[in-house]
Amino acid sequence: MLRLLKKPVAVRMRSAASYAVSDLKRALLSWNSPMNGTMAASSDRIMLGPLVGAIDQGTSSTRFLVFNAKTAELLSHHQVEIQQSFPKEGWVEEDPKEILKSVYECMDRTCEKLTQLNIDISNIKAIGVTNQRETTLVWDKETGEPLYNAIVWLDLRTQSTVERLINNTPGRNKNHLKHKTGLPISTYFSAVKLRWLMDNVEEVHKAVVSHTAMFGTVDSWLIWCLTGGKKGGVHVTDVTNASRTMLFNIHTLDWDPDLCNYFGIPMEILPKVRSSSEIYGLMNSGPLTGIPISGCLGDQSAALVGQMCFQEGQAKNTYGTGCFLLRNTGQKPVISDHGLLTTIAYKLGRDQPACYALEGSVAIAGAVVRWLKDNLGIIQSSTELEKLAAGVGTSYGCYFVPAFSGLYAPYWEPSARGIICGLTQFTNKSHLAFAALEAVCFQTREILDAMNQDSGIPLTQLQVDGGMTSNKLLMQLQADILCIPVVKPSMPETTALGAAMAAGAAEGVRVWSLNPEDLTEVTSEKFEPQINPEESEFRYARWKKAVRRSMNWETTEPVNNGNEESSIFSSVPLGFYILGSMFMFIGAKYIAGYK
Ligand SMILES: Nc1ncnc2c1ncn2[C@@H]1O[C@H](COP(=O)(O)OP(=O)(O)OP(=O)(O)O)[C@@H](O)[C@H]1O
Ligand SMILES: [Mg+2]
Repeated sequence: MLRLLKKPVAVRMRSAASYAVSDLKRALLSWNSPMNGTMAASSDRIMLGPLVGAIDQGTSSTRFLVFNAKTAELLSHHQVEIQQSFPKEGWVEEDPKEILKSVYECMDRTCEKLTQLNIDISNIKAIGVTNQRETTLVWDKETGEPLYNAIVWLDLRTQSTVERLINNTPGRNKNHLKHKTGLPISTYFSAVKLRWLMDNVEEVHKAVVSHTAMFGTVDSWLIWCLTGGKKGGVHVTDVTNASRTMLFNIHTLDWDPDLCNYFGIPMEILPKVRSSSEIYGLMNSGPLTGIPISGCLGDQSAALVGQMCFQEGQAKNTYGTGCFLLRNTGQKPVISDHGLLTTIAYKLGRDQPACYALEGSVAIAGAVVRWLKDNLGIIQSSTELEKLAAGVGTSYGCYFVPAFSGLYAPYWEPSARGIICGLTQFTNKSHLAFAALEAVCFQTREILDAMNQDSGIPLTQLQVDGGMTSNKLLMQLQADILCIPVVKPSMPETTALGAAMAAGAAEGVRVWSLNPEDLTEVTSEKFEPQINPEESEFRYARWKKAVRRSMNWETTEPVNNGNEESSIFSSVPLGFYILGSMFMFIGAKYIAGYK
């Protein structure tokens, strides 16, 4: 049962035991405390019910969090930032070993924190995994070594491959495979990244030929390593992650031989596809050795579960590196007419049905904040952005389309690139900061509009979560631009919560009940729209104009002096015809004069 309250208050409906923890360790549970602040030791012995851990391996950071299975209360966590490398323009990579190391570090540190609190880590009964989706890895099953960096979902190196694939489909249809995959052909999904690795990395090619290659998204890599790696690790993924590869049939819930054939991917390198909630294997090392890993969901699916959107029609929007709006469509896959994806929402148990979602994916949300910090240096930390933007309270007519990785939903346009327009001599960095926040809100408005058109039933409020939602200005702007209330849970780590719920509810674990009447009540903060709809529409229309200007910037077609419409000579046959006519005319005059 999800009940939403107007004012943020402390988490309600706790058991007596968890009150004891809260009262003793309130500082520990505070979300405003520094990310990895140490906690005071206590001599009290705290009796708790079963606990469940969740690994949340995101694009920007890795976290390990431990929840009380009876109350959904967060007890402790640790977070480590992840380095991204940009070896060439449009390329985005991460180091698989650093990702793995960050997971071990987060688990170790969280266990230490629990021990300092006198919470016995043997109470942890299960571990769930949630992860950045689509990011593609290949490793060698004999050496256990990654054969290349992880190619991150945002990466654009496959743009020309994607253009070629689309050009070769009947009617140049980017939705050619949508009936099976729910996805357009795009640089975003794993299949094209895997194809690139096989074609361009000698080690990957050799390992495929010698049958030692293993492909996986981040969940597969982590579960394989954590359950023993080259010494018996299990090579699995779950349906939600599989549904983002373009190799998976969302109707049969299995790898599709025709899709594998289309991309030239040998099926033997793929992991086994399992449900999102079942025991995959046991932890093989570290303080949690022997604990089952029993939950696995892509991060956006996990957030849907963590927001308890189990009913058809319920939706949530997560603001992390990108921004992802998912609406539960129940047991039927709905194919979008408005540029949204159809994806698996979850399958909570081997014998449970799969539930589907419509998804609006925005590539750049929090990433624009990181860009303003790391590339422009106009802020020192993400939190500074709010102060900078709030100082002016307007973009002063400046619009920022952060199409760094092309545009995802609803356009699916890899040729788009980022633009900042409407600049005057008056524009300063505060206006730019404001425009960056507005860009996140406008992009959400575009996918919400598409979602409302596809489903025919407009959302009356938007449930939100993710790192960026700590920015209150952003939340207020979002409500203003959508013209509906925005509702944010007090405990923002819904992605990890969803993975913990799936792990705790698995057969053979069963410490977390997903019965609607047992689900913990959630408290939230609500942001009501404060500007009139006309103003909102005016700003949105300007945004759309800016989006149009960002399109068709980076294409494989030759550039024509920047004069797109007017050059008749850009059409080769027409150019020949006109030049030919001119020569004939001059020739005729010459012959006439000669006589
Ligand atoms: N106060 C803030 N204002 C604006 N942006 C913020 C703020 N705090 C965090 N962010 C942005 O949110 C992002 C981090 O969000 P989050 O922690 O949810 O991401 P993640 O889980 O590591 O990555 P993923 O996108 O894979 O989920 C960063 O890009 C950061 O710039
Ligand atoms: Mg995340």
